[in-house]
Amino acid sequence: MSQADGPEFVERSRDIAHVGSVELFSPLPQETVAFFRDLMSMKVVHSADDSTYLHAWDDYERWTIKVTARAQAGVGRTYLRAASPAALERRVAAMQDHGVSGRWVQDEWALGRIWLGTDPDGHELGLYFDTEWYSPGDDDRPSLKNQASRLPLGGTRVRRLDHVNYLAADIPGVCTFLEAAMGGRMTERIVMDDGTTAAAWYTFSDKSYDLVYTGDWVAGASGRLHHVAFATDTREDILRAADLFLDSGVHIETGPHKHAIQQTFFLYVWEPGGNRIELCNAAARLVLAPDWAPVTWTQQERAKGQAWGLKTIGTFHTHGTPVI
Ligand SMILES: [Fe+2]
Repeated sequence: MSQADGPEFVERSRDIAHVGSVELFSPLPQETVAFFRDLMSMKVVHSADDSTYLHAWDDYERWTIKVTARAQAGVGRTYLRAASPAALERRVAAMQDHGVSGRWVQDEWALGRIWLGTDPDGHELGLYFDTEWYSPGDDDRPSLKNQASRLPLGGTRVRRLDHVNYLAADIPGVCTFLEAAMGGRMTERIVMDDGTTAAAWYTFSDKSYDLVYTGDWVAGASGRLHHVAFATDTREDILRAADLFLDSGVHIETGPHKHAIQQTFFLYVWEPGGNRIELCNAAARLVLAPDWAPVTWTQQERAKGQAWGLKTIGTFHTHGTPVI
């Protein structure tokens, strides 16, 4: 790992501040809402039509996850907050220059004007700046005013959304889009022996990644989800979460363990609707270097499995949503 081995220095864009909120589709919406409310310690803050909005306790915005009833599980819109109104305009211009045909809408609860487009694989991305901040009520007002709401009494107490990992057919095409249109910075990647990029991790913030793209193993599939991840305060929270999921009959897919790539401490479960959900902790690891070069992992290194030797579970390469 050395910038000397990396590409020519390019000043990074700060136009996208962070991933805001995500819509998940569920064929079992009541059960999915109960999962996020009771086990992920989120608060139901709004409902409209076939959707329920939930808020993670330290998310500064009004909502974190929107659960929408659909015949099949999967991911709907992902919202990304721009750093300023001018940054939003710059990103929209860059998206259009990149050939993305988007449109302005104002159709989402607690968000202002949104520029709605898609990535090259068809995932819907909404860029916005105007947003409503979360205002706690008497039932969840925190003691300290620098916290969005009171620490929940039960559940896993995930603090906020951390990252989204999509599946996509054309990873190099997605990488070009993320860099040219979105202003993202690649921090790590997997390159196979034949030279193809199998997965790429991108940051918009000081976190080591915000969006991840992994090659879809189903030919012809598009717009699919690998997982959505939520941040816990500590590793210990994830161990306790595993016990909680075990007692609650939630399918634990793999972990707790530590990833080699990005070094994230993880636990993966499937929510009742079928979407893969990660609880993660990598809070101390930030990418502060303005000239960070992507760390490349080889096919052989990936085959070693996770950091402490856990082999990557087979369903990691066979389960995505919608299930095909
Ligand atoms: Fe993840």
